[in-house]
Amino acid sequence: MLEVHGLDAYYGTSHILHGLRLAVGKGQGVALLGRNGAGKSTTLKAIMALGPRWDGAITFQGRSLRSLRAYQIARLGVGYVPEDRRIYPDLSVDDNLKVGLVAFRRRRPTMSLDEIWSWFPLLKDLRHRLGRELSGGEQQMLSIARSLAGRPDLMLLDEPTEGLAPLVVQSLSEAIGGLITEVGVGLLLAEQNLRFALRLTEHVFVIDGGHLVFEGGREEFSRRVDEIERTPLAPAARAGPALPPPPASWPERFRARHRPQYAAKLPNALAIGAFIRQFGSAEQRGP
Ligand SMILES: Nc1ncnc2c1ncn2[C@@H]1O[C@H](COP(=O)(O)OP(=O)(O)OP(=O)(O)O)[C@@H](O)[C@H]1O
Ligand SMILES: [Mg+2]
Repeated sequence: MLEVHGLDAYYGTSHILHGLRLAVGKGQGVALLGRNGAGKSTTLKAIMALGPRWDGAITFQGRSLRSLRAYQIARLGVGYVPEDRRIYPDLSVDDNLKVGLVAFRRRRPTMSLDEIWSWFPLLKDLRHRLGRELSGGEQQMLSIARSLAGRPDLMLLDEPTEGLAPLVVQSLSEAIGGLITEVGVGLLLAEQNLRFALRLTEHVFVIDGGHLVFEGGREEFSRRVDEIERTPLAPAARAGPALPPPPASWPERFRARHRPQYAAKLPNALAIGAFIRQFGSAEQRGP
């Protein structure tokens, strides 16, 4: 459904993505993992024609996205939720959703408000609340809900869990999981939260410094992450700055078990960093 080949992307003279390749099949969940600054958002923005200049090939349902504008790509059936959510602060939840719907009227079959609410029931309770009065998690739900307006075949989500409490992450994961399995929406998920990403996706791409450093099925990726968790990292694999002591805010059971490789035990960016150091660079990074 979505195919990206030999993607190079640039901001001005900065060369950000280097020959990136990835693919998302119909109704498939795919994770795009990487540390801060790896190029995840740049990849999604290149696909949506929202910023970076790019070379290479990006096709959606067989059609090149080369010279299309963002609204045309959306009308082809790609929903996009940026990192910063972009909801309208002075519009109610209802009106935020309606703006999404109006954009697609007569262009695509739309998803009714009732159907959107069936995925995000909380939004129905909050429908008269203004955008700026919502919590971070509620804003994220609204932003994802709005991206459903045009009944997309593919959703691009940029770190939807960033800054959200575990309970909110859980409910987002249920809604998104349902959209994949019941509605058949495909998902390209840029994330640093491994646990969330692995719950929703069956295929994983890891990028670092704009290069693809790993591609594989969820099973293989999980097996390698487990491997990192079980074996103390070799000193060479721990290259880089010494890890800081575990933060005081961590639960005692984590801190008590603190070992130098504690970072690899956490389902977060640090674990991705450990993964890349151990498995990524030597193995798959091209010239
Ligand atoms: N508008 C821009 N102009 C110039 N450079 C940019 C711009 N946006 C991003 N970059 C640079 O491109 C690189 C990749 O950034 P990108 O936002 O794609 O990373 P990311 O993987 O999404 O990171 P994060 O997890 O922090 O969101 C970084 O070095 C960043 O500084
Ligand atoms: Mg980003």
